[in-house]
Amino acid sequence: MNSGADFIVVANRLPVDLERAPDGTQRWKHSPGGLVSALEPFLRSKSGAWVGWPGVADVDVEEFDDDGLRLIPVTLSATEVRDYYEGFSNATLWPLYHDVVESPVFDRTWWDSYVKVNHRFAEATAAIAGPGATVWVQDYQLQLVPQLLREQRPDLRIGFFLHIPFPPVELFMQLPWRTEIVRGLLGADLVGFHRPGGAQNFLWLARRLVGLEPSRAAVGVRTRPGLIHVGDRPVRVGAFPISIDSAGLDGMARKRDVIQRAQQIRADLGNPRKILLGVDRLDYTKGIDVRLHALHELLVEGRIDPDEVTMVQLATPSRERVEHYQQMRAGIEQVVSRINGEFGKVGHPVVHYLHQSVDRRELVAFFSAADVMVVTPVRDGMNLVCKEYVACRHDLGGTLVLSEFAGAAAELTSAFLVNPHDLDGVKNALHAALTIDPAEGRRRMRALRRQVLTHDVDRWARSFLEALGSQGLN
Ligand code: ADP
Ligand code: F6P
Repeated sequence: MNSGADFIVVANRLPVDLERAPDGTQRWKHSPGGLVSALEPFLRSKSGAWVGWPGVADVDVEEFDDDGLRLIPVTLSATEVRDYYEGFSNATLWPLYHDVVESPVFDRTWWDSYVKVNHRFAEATAAIAGPGATVWVQDYQLQLVPQLLREQRPDLRIGFFLHIPFPPVELFMQLPWRTEIVRGLLGADLVGFHRPGGAQNFLWLARRLVGLEPSRAAVGVRTRPGLIHVGDRPVRVGAFPISIDSAGLDGMARKRDVIQRAQQIRADLGNPRKILLGVDRLDYTKGIDVRLHALHELLVEGRIDPDEVTMVQLATPSRERVEHYQQMRAGIEQVVSRINGEFGKVGHPVVHYLHQSVDRRELVAFFSAADVMVVTPVRDGMNLVCKEYVACRHDLGGTLVLSEFAGAAAELTSAFLVNPHDLDGVKNALHAALTIDPAEGRRRMRALRRQVLTHDVDRWARSFLEALGSQGLN
């Protein structure tokens, strides 16, 4: 029997996902998404526990040790995957929090399932937490856990961090269960968002929906958190922009085999003069269609020569049973076919589209090979891909085109910043990035790297945990 854990991360997913092959064999693979990319390297360097779902329905997996990290699986039934995960988390909250770019569905049975599953996560955590432990709850799938956990274990220090945008109050107010969600989050000692605007919105909602008296001063980045008293218990509300393992990626990009692999990728693509790259989960918030439409128009107008420019789009399969995702995938695959049909040659498509996840080294090789990284979400809490690209460019090569609607835009101001709703603006930025003077490109990349290398995931986690007053991190 393991003793109680002092430091626990609670997230919808474990850092590893169980994969079942058709022949019945199973293996663990790296889980998708930015939350795991950011938190895993941090947590692996500490001794901690991670409570989460193993990624498939109806499996009971015993707690296990994964290279020093204690993993506590939480089982979800097939109905709960449908209602709590695909339904309330990804067809209600996800579109609502991403500025309603698709219409959120408000379904009462999905809400019931969300409540039930949040209870299960809270119970699993309460059962393994040592006295006075620090518990760090993650993301929109688990917004009720802070309050539920506090009811069971008032001795714990509880932090909550939201990895996606927190919406404008007018949009949040559409949610039939808005007060329950705000009360759920108020169970934490510290509620963290990527940007001060999210924190500010939450403070407003605590006044409006729960009748509390939050502080009125502006919230800063990693400083001056807002304060709310829930009875005599203080709740702090702050902004903590997440980041990546910058040094780890920088080191990997300098490795000889990765550099050789990047050269090989260029050669496999026919050594084009310029390579454009997109890397995303296949999600409608990521604006993959935006960059493809921009590329198509630039080709039609003759501003880009298809013999000189090649685009690679890596797209991790994501939430494939949710209808919005199915529609979006069909739309994207149609534009890819159209571009290749009109401008490709035998053996030389203009767009190489891989509906696949690639391993870390391969990804770093792609980043190293790409001349222009195109990150055009219509809304993104942070976006780690753009930071990863910058961390890999120790050669000061490569140019970043980045949406103003990604949280990262506030930090990466030397990128070509674009409004993804303004197609002409995106086209002009792509063109400028493809034709940039090399000295100007190096100047921009140097400035971007200064930011990314000094603001890494370790700094993010430490700033959050210090504000939480956690003792458990040595
Ligand atoms: P999100 O959390 O919404 O998926 P982020 O940009 O914050 O978006 O994080 C995505 C993470 O997933 C990054 O670490 C990125 O490198 C990784 N990733 C995205 N697409 C792929 C892919 N096709 N293959 C491998 N990793 C990918
Ligand atoms: O960062 C947003 C996020 O939704 C994470 O919470 C999640 O782990 C990741 O993206 C991937 O999404 P999913 O877990 O639904 O595959």
